[in-house]
Amino acid sequence: MSSGPGGPAGVLSAHDLRKSFGDIAVLDGVDLEAQAGQVLAVLGPSGCGKSTLLRVLAGLERPTSGEVLLDGATVSGPSPSRGMVAQSGGLFPWLTLRDNLAFGPRARSRPAAEVRTVVSELLAATGLDGFADVLPRQLSGGMRQRAAIAQVLANRPPVLLLDEPFGALDAQTRLRMHEWLLALLAERPTTTVLVTHDVEEALLLGDRLCLLSNRPARVTAEQPVPFGSARGRSVLHDPAFVRMKADVLERVLAA
Ligand SMILES: Nc1ncnc2c1ncn2[C@@H]1O[C@H](COP(=O)(O)OP(=O)(O)OP(=O)(O)O)[C@@H](O)[C@H]1O
Ligand SMILES: [Mg+2]
Repeated sequence: MSSGPGGPAGVLSAHDLRKSFGDIAVLDGVDLEAQAGQVLAVLGPSGCGKSTLLRVLAGLERPTSGEVLLDGATVSGPSPSRGMVAQSGGLFPWLTLRDNLAFGPRARSRPAAEVRTVVSELLAATGLDGFADVLPRQLSGGMRQRAAIAQVLANRPPVLLLDEPFGALDAQTRLRMHEWLLALLAERPTTTVLVTHDVEEALLLGDRLCLLSNRPARVTAEQPVPFGSARGRSVLHDPAFVRMKADVLERVLAA
């Protein structure tokens, strides 16, 4: 959802980020920039430091050195303006779907009428209108992930941080979720950093692609993804898409 006139544009950048846990170096000088309203897909091998990078971008983890800027201002802690959906999902298991979606706006003391509107818009956008009063465990995996993204979007953040949001889903459901997310972001342009180890997911969802090396993570390549609005499942058969997928996979394996 855009932040409206006068609000932040939502350009998120990282400059020479380094992060170590004791002797273990995890981030080794990461530079990246997510443009306003675009999706930056960050692709890297398992264990390379993707979740750590996203947590640093969210302000949940402090870098050992380097900095994160949102619209030129240093990020120094977590904020609803950088909504993160963690790898394990984020819904409160004891709250109904409606109360999960209302949680952020209520915590920010938004008026009740606004909370109702935001919640009903997001229930419609997730196709979960009929499930407002159920608990997360009564939803399917795909429904839960849509709801977790909606919960974060309820805060109307200029920046959305997604950590392998569809990693635990079967291939068909994942493809449906990709099409759902593309449609959602087309309606509410939101600067998004999507972390994934899935090449197809990165190419389907990303406007730009950033490749990470094995741990400690460095950016090994940064490039546009040229499929634009043609994305959706039909692009999977486009020979240019197939070639790029094979090429990027080789580069990830060689990272
Ligand atoms: N809080 C922490 N304390 C110590 N080490 C950590 C901590 N968080 C992450 N690490 C280490 O950092 C490295 C990268 O972990 P991270 O979870 O960022 O990788 P990832 O790319 O997200 O992995 P995956 O693909 O499995 O999700 C791992 O070696 C992990 O053990
Ligand atoms: Mg991870």
